[in-house]
Amino acid sequence: MTPSDVKATLSFSDGSPSMDLPIYKGSVGPDVIDIRKLYGQTGKFTYDPGFLSTASCNSTITYIDGDKGELLYRGYPIEELARNCDFMEVCYLLLKGELPNPQEKKDFDRLVTVHTMVNEQMQFFLRGFRRDAHPMAVMTGLVGALSAFYHDSTDVHNPEHRAIAAIRLIAKMPTLVAMSYKYGIGQPYIYPKNSLSYTANFMRMMFATPCEEYEPNDVLVRAMDRIFILHADHEQNASTSTVRLCGSSGTNPFAAIAAGVACLWGPAHGGANEACLNMLGDIQKQGGVEKIGEFIKQVKDKNSSVKLMGFGHRVYKNYDPRAKLMRETCHEVLGALGLQNDPLFKLAMELEKIALEDEYFVARKLYPNVDFYSGIVQRAIGIPVPLFTAIFALARTVGWIAQLDEMIGDPEYKIGRPRQLFVGSKPRQVVPLAKRA
Ligand code: CMC
Repeated sequence: MTPSDVKATLSFSDGSPSMDLPIYKGSVGPDVIDIRKLYGQTGKFTYDPGFLSTASCNSTITYIDGDKGELLYRGYPIEELARNCDFMEVCYLLLKGELPNPQEKKDFDRLVTVHTMVNEQMQFFLRGFRRDAHPMAVMTGLVGALSAFYHDSTDVHNPEHRAIAAIRLIAKMPTLVAMSYKYGIGQPYIYPKNSLSYTANFMRMMFATPCEEYEPNDVLVRAMDRIFILHADHEQNASTSTVRLCGSSGTNPFAAIAAGVACLWGPAHGGANEACLNMLGDIQKQGGVEKIGEFIKQVKDKNSSVKLMGFGHRVYKNYDPRAKLMRETCHEVLGALGLQNDPLFKLAMELEKIALEDEYFVARKLYPNVDFYSGIVQRAIGIPVPLFTAIFALARTVGWIAQLDEMIGDPEYKIGRPRQLFVGSKPRQVVPLAKRA
């Protein structure tokens, strides 16, 4: 970290001595004030629920400029990666810091491919679930269960263990997502086929049956690959911070990723793609485009708790660059499938237009995020709505594992242990039961 010449001075109005705090400069983005010695020197903590002003770590992986609407993986703009690379190249980049050359890419593809099968025992584990269980409930269990299968890659402090756990997770997630889908609909599992690309293989495991082969459609495979690229990492979001916090105890890497899957499920985070499509479906059922005005009214009503799902973001105060790319993909996919007049897509575009002109959204800088269009693309591809967030988890696994690896490799890393402002009872004595009123 590069120290700045400038220091922050913290002073107190009660005459307590002031304190100089070092400032570090990032390569791009805001500087940070180092408060690590604050408690030791002043006996005070900082207070920042929801981490509105707190950098929890330093990182070299992903950079977001929320005001500009810019997203970089290892310095490369997301638009360039989405248009020029496949998901495997992006995985390599996130894990290793550089894009692969042709030989490195070939070796990496092969390495991931030879780990796509899961232990046959996983099938029996799956059988413990109800068939109608939510895929994210199943995925949380399955990913956690991986920690019981790979005893040779459980020491998070061993870089070789971390490297092989990373490959296993990236390789096995598509197999597990497809298995949870097939289990839910009562179809036989389809084993991975190593002659296919990562993404085509996933789609085949989803849509082939033992009676009928699945012929990958290039446009749809490219669209799915783009979904994976756009969701691969996103800096210190809730699930990534969960993985870092969970992993900071030195736990098994598969268990730390399972914690990320659990966090991602929530509708304010990865679950928003499912919630967004359900929202569009509800508006459509109630009358479609004509009902947008009424719906927006509810969203703006402080007492209604209705949100425009797929809109707003903690960091982006501008159009989410991933949403732009996703909208482009949406046009491509619907065009390829002859679904240009898809009513939900039309509804989404109209809703976006109206929201972007509405004072409520303008004043709060609420723009479409990645989830606004990803559901429409996934639905067109044939992915059932409850599986959307599991696909997000599949794609985000590489980001989680890259961030976990970075944290463990950082000499300054410590177990994560936030403090609190205690506002409960002061010390008091227990009154024996018989004497309590
Ligand atoms: N619809 C209506 N109002 C909203 C929305 C929305 N989608 N998002 C934020 N607001 C309002 C919010 O009510 C508040 O208004 P006020 O200042 O009058 O109280 C203001 O905008 C600021 O919102 P906030 O809740 O303080 O913002 P946050 O940074 O804590 O929350 C968010 C960010 C993503 C949780 C929130 O925008 C949201 O719930 N959006 C809908 C869910 C969604 O699409 N999530 C996906 C995020 S992108 C994918 C991912 O990272 O997983």
